[in-house]
Amino acid sequence: MSVSNPSSPLRKPIRKAVFPVAGMGTRFLPATKAIPKEMLPIIDRPLIQYAVDEAREAGIEQLIFVTGRGKTSIVEHFDTAFELERTMNDRGKDLSILDPTRILPGNLVTVRQQVPMGLGHAIWCARAIVGDEPFAIFLPDELMIGTPGCMKEMVEAYNEVGGNLISVLEVPEEEVSSYGVIAPGARVSDKLTEVIGLVEKPKREEAPSNLIISGRYILQPEVMRTLEGQEKGAGGEIQLTDAMARMIGSSRSTR
Ligand code: G1P
Repeated sequence: MSVSNPSSPLRKPIRKAVFPVAGMGTRFLPATKAIPKEMLPIIDRPLIQYAVDEAREAGIEQLIFVTGRGKTSIVEHFDTAFELERTMNDRGKDLSILDPTRILPGNLVTVRQQVPMGLGHAIWCARAIVGDEPFAIFLPDELMIGTPGCMKEMVEAYNEVGGNLISVLEVPEEEVSSYGVIAPGARVSDKLTEVIGLVEKPKREEAPSNLIISGRYILQPEVMRTLEGQEKGAGGEIQLTDAMARMIGSSRSTR
């Protein structure tokens, strides 16, 4: 598939975002033994709230959480806590502090990833809800602070160039093996570079660059078909990076 015509009035807007939140958080143990890593507080908010705020700022309407066992508190965080609000009301407390946790009824959808089989598999679990439209992905443990937010900038870029976009970050060479790494191609603009290759968790000496996939994606729905039946990759898991690598040539990826 080639890049969509930039001036095409047919480009579908980015309305949906997938948040893979089924992971067991083993890297944060023991803090995450009894609470999901997405609920760890950073200053005054749980981690997941930052990603949801970033999504809202970017115009995302529907939030799709790919969850698993022990993760219900994430969904409860975005539900109305009736007793709490009633009590606060009775005591004359300001309820606006809860506003970031309010989601329009019907706009939070959860799907279950029953077995941890990798990020690619988690995204694929959301296929029926994503349907046939381009969508965003947020890896909430990558905390992005910025004005404007990372996804808002990506949506603006998407509206210009279409296709598939991923955010990348420059890291010291000794860290590349912990991430997905891109092979950069031609520079498209100040902030956009073509991606000509992607590899998940390469050895340092085999990494095509020190530009790592930093946890924000805008992808075409075709990725779901690419993920279908995909073989396991790095770490014995079904990798989103491998699916994107397979899509290069049939569609263009930029950052
Ligand atoms: C995932 C992705 C990887 C990306 C990273 C960012 O890896 O597979 O490409 O660079 O998130 O945090 P994970 O952290 O799940 O091992």
